[in-house]
Parts: sequence; structure tokens; C-alpha cells
Amino acid sequence: MIATLRFFLFLSLVASSPLVLSQPAKPQLPTRTPDRVILNITDSPETSFAVNWRTDTTMTAGTLEWTVATDGPEYTKQVNRVAAQREFLKVRQDDGLKVIAHYFSGQVEGLTPGQQYVYRVGNMDAWSEWYQLRLPDMQHKKLSFLYFGDAQNEIKSMWSRVIREAFKTAPQVDFMLHAGDLIHNYDNDAEWGEWFYAGNFLHAMVPSLATPGNHEYNHGKLSPQWRPQFNLPQNGPRGVQETCYAVNYSDLKVISLDAIQIEHPLGRHKRQLEWLDSVLTNDPRKWTVVTLHYPVFSTAEGRDHEKLRERLKPLLDKHHVDLVLQGHDHSYGRGRVGNVPTGTTYNDRSSGTMYVVSVSGPKMYGLSDNPWMERRAANTQLFQVIHIEGDVLSYEAFTATGTLYDAFDLQKSAGKLNTLINKIPPVDERR
Ligand SMILES: [Fe+2]
Repeated sequence: MIATLRFFLFLSLVASSPLVLSQPAKPQLPTRTPDRVILNITDSPETSFAVNWRTDTTMTAGTLEWTVATDGPEYTKQVNRVAAQREFLKVRQDDGLKVIAHYFSGQVEGLTPGQQYVYRVGNMDAWSEWYQLRLPDMQHKKLSFLYFGDAQNEIKSMWSRVIREAFKTAPQVDFMLHAGDLIHNYDNDAEWGEWFYAGNFLHAMVPSLATPGNHEYNHGKLSPQWRPQFNLPQNGPRGVQETCYAVNYSDLKVISLDAIQIEHPLGRHKRQLEWLDSVLTNDPRKWTVVTLHYPVFSTAEGRDHEKLRERLKPLLDKHHVDLVLQGHDHSYGRGRVGNVPTGTTYNDRSSGTMYVVSVSGPKMYGLSDNPWMERRAANTQLFQVIHIEGDVLSYEAFTATGTLYDAFDLQKSAGKLNTLINKIPPVDERR
């Protein structure tokens, strides 16, 4: 009897316990063998790929070996070699520990769209395994990508299931888009280590397109890891290379904007906005997707980025941007907002840009009743799968368990505004 009572007492304690957070991670020190191997999006991802990795400082040179993938092991007989660029990085952590590393980056260009390649990185006695990737071929095949809102907290413990479920749901995606706040403390190397751990070999197989959030910044200073560990396009304006840039597929342009600099009080936004206007003027591509961390329209209670909206929305309207993917509000909402010459109103749902705010990590904020949202969710970790094929963009939002929570299609027809086809599944709204 006493044992039974104890058992029920134990169960009730378990049921009422607050969330037990895991211990802070310890930095993982680099070795001679490459770790944190990651494919990065390039400015022309159908014909090139870029890789970064990390070693300790006894490894003074790095090589990227690559070739066309074969069905058997014969691909190793004839490989191409690229000497990597090296960067030295030292970051001091809160506990006084210094993490000292070499970061290497290599890029291969002039490749064939749709072709499958293998590559490995390292040097001398220490190499990664061979990784396989297939380049997209948007002119002949559907292009697909994953979109993640903020991962940020409990990355190893509680975000890893989201990126892994996403991979199970859409294993053939062409890139993964991270809409900022990948980690919480901009220079905390253990947190960056958790982010690489969570995605593991997926990072080396599918290119990442990352835009920085406020947590990748500290008092205006970008994470010291950002530029060494990623190798993102440097085609943006001066001062924001690798945080503001354009990625060009045959029929899609994806633009990362550095939202933190657009909100900057000292007028630093002008350069990015002029650049955005110039790259979207006369762009021949059918589809335009913009990602930035701060939401143009907020989903969370008591939050609003009015200054950002004033500065940015006229350009999104002018160029009829199809889709804007954002984070920061730790809740989910999406809706279409009319393209108007002056305005910040959202009363016209019949035309315009589709805005999405999402969250993939476990930190949650209260949801607002803001009427711009056609579908919303509180307290839900999500990932999105987006497909583009010809005139149709299909969007699906899944919860962390792989349940379809939201969906729509955008249909293009020449000279007209996009047609929206809502496909919201019969799943109760999570409030
Ligand atoms: Fe944020």
C-alpha cells in the first residue's frame, strides 16, 4: 500500500514538475580531424558549392577533395583538390576557457546542375568522411527547402528533434534556411557546438542559408564565429557581407537581410535598402523570397517593429516580394498583406506579400490577436517545407511531431498578382 502511494506521489510530482533544463554545454575543443563541417549556400547554388570546417591549430593547411559520385568506391581514384582558405579564431568563454581553432573554407564552381558529387575535407593524416550532395536543377526539377525559425535555446536537448524530423519529412531538400537566433549567446562556442551537433551530417549534405538574429549580435558586434564558420555569399553591400546577400537560382532569388542593421538608429539601414532595391529591379526570376530575423508584422503580444516596417515594406511592396520568412517572436503566424504604395495597413488580403513568423526551438512567447494572421499557433515548435515548381509555390508548416499544421499554395500568372490557395488542415488552432 505504502509502495503504491509512493508510486502515485512520484507520478504526480513528475506531472507537475516545471521544465527541467539541461546543464550548460561545455565547449568542444577542436582536434586535427575536421569537425563542424558545413555546406553553405553560394550566390549560384545550381553550379557551385562551398564548405567550411574546423580543426585545431596544429593543422595549418586544409584541402577540399571532390569529384562526381559513383555507385561504387571508384570515385576515390581520381579526385579534384582545392586549397582552402584559413582563418584563425580565438574566443574566450565565460569560464575563462579559450577556444582556439583554425577554420577552413573551400568553394567549387562551374559544376553541372542536378549532378551528384562527393567531397571530403581535411589534410595529411586527418580527413572527414566522404559526403554526398546533389546540386539543384530548378529548370528541370522541383526546388525544395526547409525553413526554421529561432532554434536559440536548449539546442542539443530540444531543437535537435525538430531538424531531424524535418529531414525525415523532406529528405531531398536543396537547402535549409535559418531565420536568425540560431544560438542564444553570440560568441558562446558550446552553443555553436550544440547547433552543429543537432544537425550533424545534415549540415554537410544540405547547404545552409542563415540570416543573423539579435542573438548573433552583441552591442552591434557580430558573432566572431559567424564569418569563419560559414562561407555565405559576399555579394551584399559593404559592411554586411555574409549577413546581407542574394542567392540566385534559375527562377528564384532568395535574399537575406541583416535585420539588426536595418533597425540600427544611426542610419546604417540605407545601404541595405538601396542594395535591395537595386537587386530586385529588373530581376528576371519568377519568385522572390526574403528572409530576415525581425518580423515586419509581429505575432507575439506587445511586440512591434514599426521602424523596420516603415523602412522595408515600401520596397517589398514595390517589388511584389512573394514570401517573407522571419523569426524572433517565438510563436507562429502567417498571412498575406496587401502591397500598397504608402502603407503599413493590412486590410487588403486579396493581393500582396505572404509573411511568415515561426519558431523551431523550445522558447515560447504569448500570441497576439493581430488580425494580419490567417493561421497562428502558440507554444508550438515548427519547421516548414517549401517547394517551387514552375508557377506554383507550395508551403507546408509541420509541428515538431511531424503533424501538418498549415499549408497554402501561391500560383503565379503572367502580369497578374499571385493567387492564394489556402490549404489549412483540420487541426485545431493551438493558442
Ligand atoms: Fe530574436
